[in-house]
Amino acid sequence: MGRVSIPDIHEKYKNSEPVTMLTAYDAPIARQVDEGGVDMILVGDSAGDNHLGYDDTVPVTLDEALSNTAAVDRAVEDAMVIGDMPFLSYGTSLEESVKNAGRFMKEAGADAVKLETAPYGKTTIEIVSRLTELGMPVVGHIGLTPQRMNQIGGGYVQGRGDGSSATVEALVETAEELEDAGAFSIILEAVTEETGKQVTEAVDVPTIGIGAGRCVNGQVLVITDVLGLSDESYTLSKQYADLNSVIQGAVESYVDDVQSEVFPSSKNVFDAIDEDQ
Ligand code: KIV
Repeated sequence: MGRVSIPDIHEKYKNSEPVTMLTAYDAPIARQVDEGGVDMILVGDSAGDNHLGYDDTVPVTLDEALSNTAAVDRAVEDAMVIGDMPFLSYGTSLEESVKNAGRFMKEAGADAVKLETAPYGKTTIEIVSRLTELGMPVVGHIGLTPQRMNQIGGGYVQGRGDGSSATVEALVETAEELEDAGAFSIILEAVTEETGKQVTEAVDVPTIGIGAGRCVNGQVLVITDVLGLSDESYTLSKQYADLNSVIQGAVESYVDDVQSEVFPSSKNVFDAIDEDQ
């Protein structure tokens, strides 16, 4: 049947069916996420603080992002796989941006790439336009753009227009420019519900929200938050499992078993005559 395609996503959009997206950073989790039935898997640069042990997304390297994307690609059958271009893997020049986006598709098996765009971000709009002209599907990302966190400073929710927060108008116009540049979908992160609504009404491509309220065309969450594998909880997210406790319990049971010599048992040992093992 093949993976979810852009026409499949647009069909859902036309039929007002919400689009689903989750992040994944490695093969075992990607396999589960895929089997769970999401439309799209984002190999996010949120790997920085959710997979690689960094404090945020800024240190994530292109090689790390490509390696994560390739691992996810190898595990996924049905969902569309989107490679997230990390900080400064695009934007230094058009040529470098095109080459690096191409590596996500040619080397890592991504079906599309995502890149963040600042309000009125001319540089990235031009890059999106070039990538889509060359046949690389692009998901835009506006609102809170964590790669710009050092510049944004304390401002978290975007669309309020109060100092460090972009205005609704700026976000609507940027979304329109991304659509004109060929982005087939736009992620809206941490914006007021009114911003989510206005952007969604302004463009003819599906908007996918994370903390963008209820008036968007789909939702994305970070998998570690969903599974209860992170230490923090966020207003914009929802935890559906408590894997921290499950894993902790399993490790403690293993330690107990080894220390009390319950494991390995006779079931776990090889003897000389059984040729099958
Ligand atoms: O990297 C990521 O996980 C993202 C989502 C939060 C949209 O960009």
